[in-house]
Amino acid sequence: MLVRFQPDLPIFICMIIGILDSGIGGKTVLKEIKKLLPNEEYVYFADSKNCPYGTKTLPELEQIVSDGVEYLLDKGAEIVVLACNTATTQTIDYLRKKYPLVPFVGTEPAIKKACDESSDGAKILLLATEGTAHAERTRELVDLNKKPKQIIEIDACPGLARAIEDDNEAAIDKILAELNNTEKYETVILGCTHYPIIKEKIAQRFPGAKLIDGSVGVAKEVLRVYNELN
Ligand code: DGL
Repeated sequence: MLVRFQPDLPIFICMIIGILDSGIGGKTVLKEIKKLLPNEEYVYFADSKNCPYGTKTLPELEQIVSDGVEYLLDKGAEIVVLACNTATTQTIDYLRKKYPLVPFVGTEPAIKKACDESSDGAKILLLATEGTAHAERTRELVDLNKKPKQIIEIDACPGLARAIEDDNEAAIDKILAELNNTEKYETVILGCTHYPIIKEKIAQRFPGAKLIDGSVGVAKEVLRVYNELN
């Protein structure tokens, strides 16, 4: 807990919240958290050296994400937010066991929200990373939330997170152009925190589809954990 003395307020207590992503993607989550908790301190670990997380093996990812968590804890983080679908779907259980005293908040692909807000019979596309696409947790979320006639397809979008990280517009456009039958989807889930950064481009590629991302839900969960700790 950081205690500050200010002239007009005798004591101002503020919490340090740590945010972790493989790069700039987590800023889309941070923006929503700050709307709910504007007066806290934030430490943001952008692990662009190891971006993309989506192609890492599980042991590699566990090590990389643990290093990021250690960094945030060293900086005094009292809540650690994994602002990354790839890290969350694959490592959050491991991290909770390894750091039992640390309150973690994860970012899962917003499959529940997409299923709830789409018609039965809707075709839903999850734009993810390789890691998220193949994670057992993603399969569980589909099975738990899918309405009987909904069809959920998953595209791992190889290279897209890195292209966004590098602000490589030509690579982004090429990857989006390679997506097929984009007109058939009622709903598209932005299942990587990098993807809301190019939301307009994705919206153009999926005319008529509703785009869903989970950052507001993550922010609400951070607020809930924050209130529990205070
Ligand atoms: N932004 C991350 C996610 O939500 C990681 C992307 C990557 O590094 O592959 O999955």
